[in-house]
Amino acid sequence: MSLWQQQVPTESSVELPPDPRALESLGRNHSLPTALADLVDNSIDAGATQVLIRFVQQQADLIGLYVVDNGRGIEPDTIDAAMTVGARRDYATGDLGHFGLGLKAASFSQASSLTVLARAAGHPAVGRRWLVGGGRRTFRCDIVPADFAARELERSWPIPAASTGTVVRWDQVRGFPATGNRGHTDEFVSRTISALQGHLGLMFHRLLADDRVCLYVDVEDVDAGPGILSQVRPINPFAYPNAPSGWPRTLTTHTGTTDLSLHCHIWPGRSSLPEYRLPGGAESRQGLYFYRRGRLLHAGGWEGIHAPDKKLQLARVAVDIDGDIAGLLDMNPEKSRVSAGPDFARVVSKAQAPDGTTINDYLQAAERIWTQTNQRATAQRKAVFPPGKGIHPNVGREIRDELPQFDDEPLNIMWKHIPGDDLLEIDRTTRTVWLNQTYRRALLGGRRGGLNDLPLIKALLFLLTEHVFQGSYLGARDKDQIDLWQEILTAAAKAEKFTYEARK
Ligand SMILES: Nc1ncnc2c1ncn2[C@@H]1O[C@H](COP(=O)(O)OP(=O)(O)O)[C@@H](O)[C@H]1O
Ligand SMILES: [Mg+2]
Repeated sequence: MSLWQQQVPTESSVELPPDPRALESLGRNHSLPTALADLVDNSIDAGATQVLIRFVQQQADLIGLYVVDNGRGIEPDTIDAAMTVGARRDYATGDLGHFGLGLKAASFSQASSLTVLARAAGHPAVGRRWLVGGGRRTFRCDIVPADFAARELERSWPIPAASTGTVVRWDQVRGFPATGNRGHTDEFVSRTISALQGHLGLMFHRLLADDRVCLYVDVEDVDAGPGILSQVRPINPFAYPNAPSGWPRTLTTHTGTTDLSLHCHIWPGRSSLPEYRLPGGAESRQGLYFYRRGRLLHAGGWEGIHAPDKKLQLARVAVDIDGDIAGLLDMNPEKSRVSAGPDFARVVSKAQAPDGTTINDYLQAAERIWTQTNQRATAQRKAVFPPGKGIHPNVGREIRDELPQFDDEPLNIMWKHIPGDDLLEIDRTTRTVWLNQTYRRALLGGRRGGLNDLPLIKALLFLLTEHVFQGSYLGARDKDQIDLWQEILTAAAKAEKFTYEARK
């Protein structure tokens, strides 16, 4: 007789609400750009046409962040629902919201204090604040006085004043460096803003290009006031100059409940346009681009249709997932990834264009076009050793994209103590160009060093010296070349050091 019991018996139940500290673990897959994109989703759902993201700096440190919009605001009766984790509302068909989580998960992933201040038409301003951390024992949310909410809403924001809108404010942002060093903070801010502009420009490119919404970023210095406002420009991953003839084509297939359309594009060749050079390297820019309600959720990857392949780097497929494709595709709560279910690759293999083109025909065409254009571009170029330690990842990626590589140990460019004042030491056994530590500080000019510092100098050295590592021995000509570089580059390094030390 089988021991299996179909039903698990129960006798009564106990109420087990989540521990309030669970709030802290929300949104762990977020980065600052994906978290802010989720707040922008909320602004767009609220009908905002203008959204400002503002970093707040006090002396050397970043202390907070604002997201300000001119949307319809939040009514006093609904603000508690808005602050509640997992409270879903009735969503309209075009809405980007979905889980009733975004605001809280995005905020707590980055900050320990979330304040929401809002005014809806015909209502007074309202405000709420959540604090996480510090061993919270209840789900009590703080009520912010209406006059403070009104003051925050009515600050002279550099977007047109509006009678309704929402201000989301983060304090105690964990991802901000607390170094007390102005230079490091400025560097962090400029890197963060450019990453943010890239991410938002890509994810919202359709809405930005249609003028549905304008996004701005600025930095306010608490003592000196706001800085220059910069506008987020759309980055359309399909905006190539001349389509290869016969492309793009749309392949469609029917799944259980809906039609799935794959808009299959082929870039005419590699390009230095920002629309082509998206973050993440040539192989991750290829593949599927999933859009939901005009917002890009996921950029690149083949989801089981094909493995990433250098030869497919011109292939990008736009897929709109507005219909009911439950089971086929799944969106994570951070809305930063769409994952394909087990049936996806099989469904896609059945898709066809009106002329019978299949996904395989498309992939072959993309590979053919890549081979043709790439032969023209790089076939004449001589192979190099792969870029190794000390070389900035962006430089390494470009070298790998542009030049054929030997399947061999990489070439490193690193610092060490070298007696005397020679700038270089060429070490063929470890395949390393050593740089004399004594010049490092001067060449950095006061910036912070790191393994991958000075990308420009190292890129030049890579191009200049790579060939002397090839071949089984160092010939007289190579030796003479190294002597020549040593003389000239050491003179240059000494001049840098002299100027640097004179300045101090
Ligand atoms: N900027 C905003 N303007 C107006 N309402 C907002 C804004 N941000 C959030 N809300 C309200 O808060 C609710 C909860 O937001 P969120 O946690 O992101 O979940 P979701 O967007 O999935 O509903 C939203 O449904 C909306 O009603
Ligand atoms: Mg949301």
